[in-house]
Amino acid sequence: MNQADFINRYKKFQNWKKSTAGTSWTYHDRFDQDGFFVIKNLCNPECLITPVPEKTGLIVYDHMGKIVQVKEERQVLGSTSRNNFPHYKEQYNKIRLEVEKQIGRKLYNTYYFDRFYYPGQVLDYHVDRGPCEISVSVHIGTNLEGDDMRWPFYIESPDKYKYKDEKKVEVLEYGGISGHLLQPGDGIVYKGCECPHWRDEMPGQQGHHYYHQVFFHYVIQDGNMAHECE
Ligand SMILES: [Fe+2]
Repeated sequence: MNQADFINRYKKFQNWKKSTAGTSWTYHDRFDQDGFFVIKNLCNPECLITPVPEKTGLIVYDHMGKIVQVKEERQVLGSTSRNNFPHYKEQYNKIRLEVEKQIGRKLYNTYYFDRFYYPGQVLDYHVDRGPCEISVSVHIGTNLEGDDMRWPFYIESPDKYKYKDEKKVEVLEYGGISGHLLQPGDGIVYKGCECPHWRDEMPGQQGHHYYHQVFFHYVIQDGNMAHECE
């Protein structure tokens, strides 16, 4: 698909992208320009690995680490997700401090979740809700092999606008699309509300392969989404 077809296909996101572009500014120039940056070896993947759950669905934990709800996983049907899985709490706080250091702004925790994807599943092109203003996706592990391991996370950088009286009037340059392959423990930091992101269909053999990822979400303490904190 060329860029014109791509823009046309996701036209309904244009107003949202226009209203959010540049709202989550930081002191990290590259981050502000691209909407993402990668941190290699952000954490030790050994601290994140857990067995593949037997059941699919979304398991919700409260802040005491107790399961309070089990329901259908609606974003990626048939996957397994865990909201605020207690095992990742320590990493959640550690990663917040690292990201704060790199972007030069203080963050509040909102929530985090990990997901086991299975073959044939797709993460549709989407932008996130307010609590995901600053998000970090860390690759934990997969049993995909060979070329199948190359299952990228795609992200679209913010469009650049022409301003008139401090208002965005027209797109000067559409944001580029990039695909990212992370090693276990690597993280991609991205502006969830500004930058659409997605994954194409997962390769592999159903009933055998999985791909495990964790998403840590934050908001900027004195930013537009600060009211979304826990
Ligand atoms: Fe998302």
